[in-house]
Amino acid sequence: MAAFADTLVSWYEDHKRDLPWRGETDPYKIWVSEIILQQTRVQQGWDYYLRFIDNFPSVKALAEADEERVLKVWQGLGYYSRARNMHATAREIMAVHYGQFPKEYDDILSLKGIGKYTAAAIASIAFHLPYPAVDGNVIRIVSRIFGVCDDVTQQSAIQKITEICETQIDSDQPGVFNQAAMDFGAMQCVPRNPDCDGCPFLSSCYAHKNNLVDVLPVKKRKSELKHRYFHYTVYLSDNQTIIEKRTGSDIWKNMYQFPLSESASEASSKKSFFSTRETLSHQVIHAAFYVKNVKKLPKLSENQVVVCFDDIEKYPMPKIMSEFLKRVE
Ligand code: ADE
Repeated sequence: MAAFADTLVSWYEDHKRDLPWRGETDPYKIWVSEIILQQTRVQQGWDYYLRFIDNFPSVKALAEADEERVLKVWQGLGYYSRARNMHATAREIMAVHYGQFPKEYDDILSLKGIGKYTAAAIASIAFHLPYPAVDGNVIRIVSRIFGVCDDVTQQSAIQKITEICETQIDSDQPGVFNQAAMDFGAMQCVPRNPDCDGCPFLSSCYAHKNNLVDVLPVKKRKSELKHRYFHYTVYLSDNQTIIEKRTGSDIWKNMYQFPLSESASEASSKKSFFSTRETLSHQVIHAAFYVKNVKKLPKLSENQVVVCFDDIEKYPMPKIMSEFLKRVE
């Protein structure tokens, strides 16, 4: 075993986090935990993971659920295309793989919504296959310890880091190695002000030796975020209102909202009842809600429905919508 893996795994034995999916060998549950953890911190992901598994304990249960229910359970986590992909993939596993989660890396990688990181995590943790799971934590620890100074927003740098991991992975326990690397990155080799004096790699770490801990990994700035302005009309007639289902290929597909108009700039002559914003990976949504009391609700367009105000919560909807509802409660 390489010295690096030795040191890493022994650090892990002493420090590993107690997580609900630790020790899990069911590839379905590992898949769920990894998809959830791609977008949320472990602390928050924990509750979502338990709730998701409680609702959909198996590939079969997920495949048999309807999409709205899956989105509802996922609500608040963001990146809803991931929930839709998981749902579609569960159905594919039932149809194409006779309900058996595929056991080979390439077959796992070919599933919709599963990239190299997730495929490697599942293959190593569930099936003990020696594929390194290269996430942000692993990128950070490898670039610091081994001195990878390339821009890690470039695929070539990730390839270099992956190759280093392939030479270092503990092939007797690749799942342990991968999770040790994740925990090490999350707890010890943290992005800002890591406690290098307490680090078992202190004497060999390239970044520490060269005073580059604050510099590595090198990340070129992301391009500017796009700003979008959403104006929601909240019709009120008795206790009834109109909501509509989002369609097309935009964000929040198949989720529900009050009737929306979008503008290119903030400008609106009306005063909103409530406004908020949400930052997504490439865009900032500025949302404003305008309450409109009417005697009679306007004519519905195709994707709209009339609902009782108290029933809105039953529909899957983006976080800014629930924020508004919380405000009016
Ligand atoms: N982050 C993503 N997957 C993880 C795992 N399996 N253990 C710890 N942190 C993680």
